Amino acid sequence: MIPADLPLEFVRVVERAAIAAARTMGRGDGKEADRVAVEAMRREMESVDMVGTIVIGEGERDEAPMLYIGEKVGTGHGPSVDIAVDPLEGTNLCATGASGAMAVLAAAEQGGLLHAPDIYMEKLVVPGAAREKVDLDASVAENLAGIADALNRDVDDLVIIVLDRPRHEELIASIREAGARIRLIGDGDLSAGISAAVLGTGVHAVMGVGGAPEGVLTAAAMRCLNGSIQGRLVLTRPSDADRLKKMGITDLGRVYQTEDLAPGENIIFAAAGVTRGTLLQGIRFFGDGVRAHCLVMTTRPRQVRFIDAIHVDDESRAAVRF
Ligand code: FBP
Repeated sequence: MIPADLPLEFVRVVERAAIAAARTMGRGDGKEADRVAVEAMRREMESVDMVGTIVIGEGERDEAPMLYIGEKVGTGHGPSVDIAVDPLEGTNLCATGASGAMAVLAAAEQGGLLHAPDIYMEKLVVPGAAREKVDLDASVAENLAGIADALNRDVDDLVIIVLDRPRHEELIASIREAGARIRLIGDGDLSAGISAAVLGTGVHAVMGVGGAPEGVLTAAAMRCLNGSIQGRLVLTRPSDADRLKKMGITDLGRVYQTEDLAPGENIIFAAAGVTRGTLLQGIRFFGDGVRAHCLVMTTRPRQVRFIDAIHVDDESRAAVRF
């Protein structure tokens, strides 16, 4: 049983990471931005009542000092939860002051999140209405026709987000040929995926290859939003096969559905904007404090909350602005 206050506890965890990262915004130092976000997230987790295990984190134990896979987090009292973190999704976005960076965490009961290795994943993220109309193995044109049909619009009314990478040249050409419009992004296919599952954002799907850990986090968000992700692991480095073996994954061609990536019954997803994005404002510092904008969602009960939080540093001087 997941306590009712745990989602809000996670809000303060992502808030702290976002605030720390935002302090480094635009400094051109992604490594530092990531380091402070990781440190802040780790520190804040220490006071959360849970027996937490990091299942998706900053890497293997020998390559990450903090939030490594298998690390125990929390006070050691309370529910046992598996946790996937991305303390700074969009490191380069933060380092350059570009939009869409955020701090993210997903949690579930033990076994509720796939222990995906840090390799690439081919992804197709669509709103819930289009879930049955797409297939990772179908052609781009067929999938776009399916999404358009589900959303009751023409293919040329669709906006598809694709990571701007050379590996997507063919995909981009196929989307253009089918007539849909494209928004190329520098980084951050997780926040793009969330936007695709929220009506009114002007984003109708995310296609292409991005990080597998982000794929699991996207799936956790989809479970809360009734959206859909299909994913297939992609090996690009010789060491990838070893990583998969270590994690017991043998079926390489497998197409993972949302429920395979995030099978938990009790899923919690929390994110805080670092720089302004489609759904979340960035961190705003003002003279007497800081304002953070968070999204926290749960499957049980099914709740989606946007939280606009003002943290006041100087009690005597603080004036709250709308
Ligand atoms: P970071 O948070 O590690 O900077 O990842 C950003 C990101 O753009 C993800 O959103 C995406 O899944 C992945 O990197 C794509 O990887 P690559 O930059 O190697 O193409």
